[in-house]
Amino acid sequence: MLSLVVLISGGGSNLRALLEASQDAEFPARVVAIGADRDAVGLSLGEEYGIPTFTVAYPAYPDRETWGDALLEQIRAWGPDLVVLSGMMRLLPPRVVAALSPNLINTHPAYLPEFPGAHGVRDALAAGASETGASLIVVDNSVDGGPIIAQERVPIHVGDTESSLHDRIKPVERRLLIEAVLDIANGHVDLKELSRS
Ligand code: GAR
Repeated sequence: MLSLVVLISGGGSNLRALLEASQDAEFPARVVAIGADRDAVGLSLGEEYGIPTFTVAYPAYPDRETWGDALLEQIRAWGPDLVVLSGMMRLLPPRVVAALSPNLINTHPAYLPEFPGAHGVRDALAAGASETGASLIVVDNSVDGGPIIAQERVPIHVGDTESSLHDRIKPVERRLLIEAVLDIANGHVDLKELSRS
């Protein structure tokens, strides 16, 4: 059984998908803790599903490195096999990435390397693209430039807003995430191997 710590900043819809999947006894992964960098709405899922939560509030620390060290300490307390950045909107400091790599993955609402960063959905619309996508990557020290585990195209419709487009991308992200966790758990995806290539 693969143990997961999931980190969020927002509503946690991808996290909910993982928690739902874990309700199935056959699903080979379990969320052991949920962490956030702020008072994220998605932390309420901890209570709903009986999963412990922790918050390492970014403004409470003098710099990114100190915040990252505190976050790493909390993550390590759970000894997870895999850490999932599921809408965590902060860059992790290099020593946190080094400590968790390659067992650190991130969901992103665009077809990387297109539209990396904090506004992947908005940037695809602003570029006038006719399609974008969803990606799941191994985190490295670049901004969304790590090895791609899985990705899929999503069409952009005339009249789409950031919110309507994000709503079309999210179900794809959820599916990619669940399938990838399954593949990692049963050895069909080897994160170490992916990070070497
Ligand atoms: C997701 O679309 C995720 O890919 C994105 O934030 C959303 C979180 O939604 N992450 C990024 O943009 C990271 N650069 P959720 O809180 O409902 O799962």
